[in-house]
Amino acid sequence: MKPFLGVVLGTRPELIKCAPVILEAQRRGLPVGIIHTGQHYSSELDGVFFSELNLPEPVAHVHVGSHPASRQIGLMMQRLHDVFDELRPEIVMVEGDTNSVLAGALAAYKSNIPVAHLEAGLRSDDWDMPEESNRVLADRLSKWLFCPTDLQRQRLLKEGIDHDGVHVVGNTIVDASLHYTKVAYDKSDIAERLGVTNRPYALLTMHRPSNVDDPARLRAILSSIGDAARTLGLMVVFPVHPRTKAAMDAAHLSLGDPFILTEPVGYLDLLRLQSSADVVLTDSGGIQEEACILRVPCVTLRANTERPETLDAGSNALHFEAYPASLADTMRRMMAKARDWTNPFGDGTTAVKVLDILKR
Ligand code: UD1
Ligand code: UDP
Repeated sequence: MKPFLGVVLGTRPELIKCAPVILEAQRRGLPVGIIHTGQHYSSELDGVFFSELNLPEPVAHVHVGSHPASRQIGLMMQRLHDVFDELRPEIVMVEGDTNSVLAGALAAYKSNIPVAHLEAGLRSDDWDMPEESNRVLADRLSKWLFCPTDLQRQRLLKEGIDHDGVHVVGNTIVDASLHYTKVAYDKSDIAERLGVTNRPYALLTMHRPSNVDDPARLRAILSSIGDAARTLGLMVVFPVHPRTKAAMDAAHLSLGDPFILTEPVGYLDLLRLQSSADVVLTDSGGIQEEACILRVPCVTLRANTERPETLDAGSNALHFEAYPASLADTMRRMMAKARDWTNPFGDGTTAVKVLDILKR
């Protein structure tokens, strides 16, 4: 059957953030199909999310694998062209800012299929980030732009995108994280397995090229995290992204106490670890949002963020090595805060709103 909605996705955060829309479409009996680019393919970044989130198998999979960006985007576009030719979905939806998003949006646009962009309008203004160009270009190509908050709508207006396809709908990360955190408390025993049930700990995730690709910088960041954790009496639970693992191996970096290293974990385990953490240290976009939603203080290991709402809410602080305050001071300040901030990303009904609009 010709899908009403073809969801092009390729990486871990896209699976998590598209899941609420896919499951809601299925609930309504709307034909929806996942078109997988294969940007992520390891089971701990891909397969585990299909089973945990109960996602349907992809209707098409173009198995792109890992390549330098322009080659990866080019390959995805070529192969997506053939998939769109065959399936002709009425709408192609993409989510976020990865290479899969740019390839999906551009290939659909050039195949005359209207594009819906979930999580539109985010900007870091940091063009060294590979994601920034993907965000801007995907927004320009989209007919429907689903902004998490009014901040993105304002930003799009400034860029001259002011048509009636721009909607403020919240972020599906609220739908996903609130629902699956409840499930996680029933099903995940990761805290027991890692021995942190009764121990204070920080959850660390880090995978941005600006933090991990340069061995000296990676070593300096990990060393300052170790020092700060020892000062504050915290363990550091660190599910290591494959990009980071490769960089650590190449730099011959091995971490002992206070770090507890694991492979990347599934969504239930991550939510369980995150909601019980004393503080979150991350350069992940999605985790900055989740920490705000789950009321866990967050320190973002970057000089900028495309999620400034979390700074305004008070759930998140930026820390960059050139800052005058030490990492331990910033962590201490965040851990001392009352966890009473307001979540700016909506009430968990974003998927319903998105489908109401697309169906209309
Ligand atoms: C990508 C996205 C980033 C997103 C992140 C989510 C871009 C430009 N980057 O970054 O925005 O935050 O996904 O996690 O789209 N690898 C594996 N197994 C896999 C996939 C990758 O081992 O399943 C390894 C490969 O060595 C690869 C490296 O990780 O070269 C980086 O993968 P890639 O998809 O290029 O970028 P990410 O860092 O994952
Ligand atoms: N996540 C996960 N397991 C992990 C690390 C992250 O399930 O080991 C989840 C996390 O809860 C969040 C999403 O992956 O929902 C964030 O993805 P990532 O940090 O890879 O990408 P970003 O959000 O920075 O694009």
